[in-house]
Amino acid sequence: MYDFAPPDGCSPEERYALLNEAVAAITHGEDDAIANMANIAALLGEFIPDTNWVGFYRVIGEGDSRELVLGPFVGRPACIRIPFGVGVCGAAAQSGAAQLVEDVHAFPGHIACDANSRSELVVPVLRAGQNGDEVVAVIDLDSPSPARFGPADQAGVEALAALLSDRI
Ligand code: SME
Repeated sequence: MYDFAPPDGCSPEERYALLNEAVAAITHGEDDAIANMANIAALLGEFIPDTNWVGFYRVIGEGDSRELVLGPFVGRPACIRIPFGVGVCGAAAQSGAAQLVEDVHAFPGHIACDANSRSELVVPVLRAGQNGDEVVAVIDLDSPSPARFGPADQAGVEALAALLSDRI
């Protein structure tokens, strides 16, 4: 049995450090991407409070036919396919940069998978490829609270994405 949980009252920095230790431990020596993403989604749900959807979209296809396809998550059923450049996830996939959105209703093209979502953090997972870094997936965190996520969350999830690069 795995029993990972953050102690009450820890700072965001401590929380992400503990989360990423748990992720490193649970994915160590395992190369099945789906299994790793499923366990990481469960850990995100346990470690990151005030979230209503946490999980992955994977990059499927090549070149101009690339799109995001739903991966393991914790939350309500979500849209399955997202074109590059569309919505918050599509912007992260296309730009290769994290998207920290305080008010999803103000984000052009935001895709409302859960009407309760008010703010969102999406971080791309990059892997070195033949043409430089390529986005292989995005990590998506949604919150029912406006402006839930800040720089500490972005830094913590970016560290998670770096850790996952060769594990998903
Ligand atoms: N809101 C996202 C879509 C994914 S769901 O939130 C799970 C977006 O605009 O990309």
